[in-house]
Amino acid sequence: MPTGGDRLKLVAALRERLGDRAAPVLETALLQERARGRIPEGWLLTGDAAEQATAAPVAAHRARRLAGRDVHDVTCSVGAELAALRGVAGRVLGSDLDPVRLAMARVNVPGVPLVRADALAPCSRDTVLVADPARRTAAGRRTWRPADFAPPLDDLAAVALGDRSADTDAECLRRHFADTPDHDLVVSTAPGLDPALVPWAQEVEIVSLDGRVREAALWSAGLARTSRRATVLSSRGADVEVTDAEDDACPVAPAGEWIVDPDGAVVRAGLVRQYGARHGLWRLDEHLAYLSGDAPPPGIRAFRVLEHGRYGEKTLRRTLAARGVGRLEILVRGLDVDPNALRPRLKLAGPHEATVVLARLASGPEAYVCEAAAPGRS
Ligand SMILES: C[S@@+](CC[C@H](N)C(=O)[O-])C[C@H]1O[C@@H](n2cnc3c(N)ncnc32)[C@H](O)[C@@H]1O
Repeated sequence: MPTGGDRLKLVAALRERLGDRAAPVLETALLQERARGRIPEGWLLTGDAAEQATAAPVAAHRARRLAGRDVHDVTCSVGAELAALRGVAGRVLGSDLDPVRLAMARVNVPGVPLVRADALAPCSRDTVLVADPARRTAAGRRTWRPADFAPPLDDLAAVALGDRSADTDAECLRRHFADTPDHDLVVSTAPGLDPALVPWAQEVEIVSLDGRVREAALWSAGLARTSRRATVLSSRGADVEVTDAEDDACPVAPAGEWIVDPDGAVVRAGLVRQYGARHGLWRLDEHLAYLSGDAPPPGIRAFRVLEHGRYGEKTLRRTLAARGVGRLEILVRGLDVDPNALRPRLKLAGPHEATVVLARLASGPEAYVCEAAAPGRS
């Protein structure tokens, strides 16, 4: 998309050729440009739909877990999940309340049956229901209460799973229970959601993509394979899964040659011990997510320890000066240190770069001066 004067010329040319349609055509092109890499090229979108769409690798991972099952995406929006499910799941159906998004989905995922329907009255039988409720209130604020999602997650679970004890007073739901068979349900939601708020979810899967935690996927009893799972997706193709069914023998011991900061999905899923045990690592402290070992696991950025000692700003400044460190990455766990405030006070100068890991151990605050190593191959 051109910028500056060229863009103005393009707008004028579009107006001349397309009249009133020039504005939506241009807006679509801009949205497509912004969503490049996340959403397939050429899709019709709205700004909100683009922001809410599940990233393609995350949707593809979920679709693989549903291979062969008939699946109904009850909040399909412009079709990101449907595109991943098509050809992997059995029969695929999409529905949404928003007629504009549905019209766009018709263009984006041709051939997939789409209907306008309320997710709280699912219009399919014997399907797995996939849902991704919006997490903003009508006022545009982000909400953490499942009852405030759109559609409300509590009601959705009650309808899908036939849970008559759920707190809902909608008469239509009660009528619906009478003749709707139970479904399996998978819900994509925010990674910070308190699992205690969704007791129906038998498996909570935290999913990250390229180092960024993207979602918590909640799996109902018929689909759950374990109770906690971390799925670490990578566009380099080295995906990793860790579950709470694995050995968690991961002792606490002083740092070895390497420090490993596990992926956010592993940390959020509470599976640091299992990940450590799998790779022969140990923990630096009972309460911290940092691991250490003689060799870093494959596919993860790790830090080779050059020297370490009790953390104090003056000592650290001297150490970094002696090493000629001019560029410094600062990682902090368990200490009240703001890296952006600390960095200028360290008066960095020199040709080298380093990473310093600051951690509160049971014995006190510790600083590890390290050299970062790019992810090794798996
Ligand atoms: C977060 S978006 C889903 C995004 C979708 N998973 C994707 O990857 O593009 C939530 C969708 O739920 C729809 N929605 C909200 N309430 C609904 C309801 N009661 N029934 C059906 N759809 C609903 C909205 O119109 C919106 O398209």
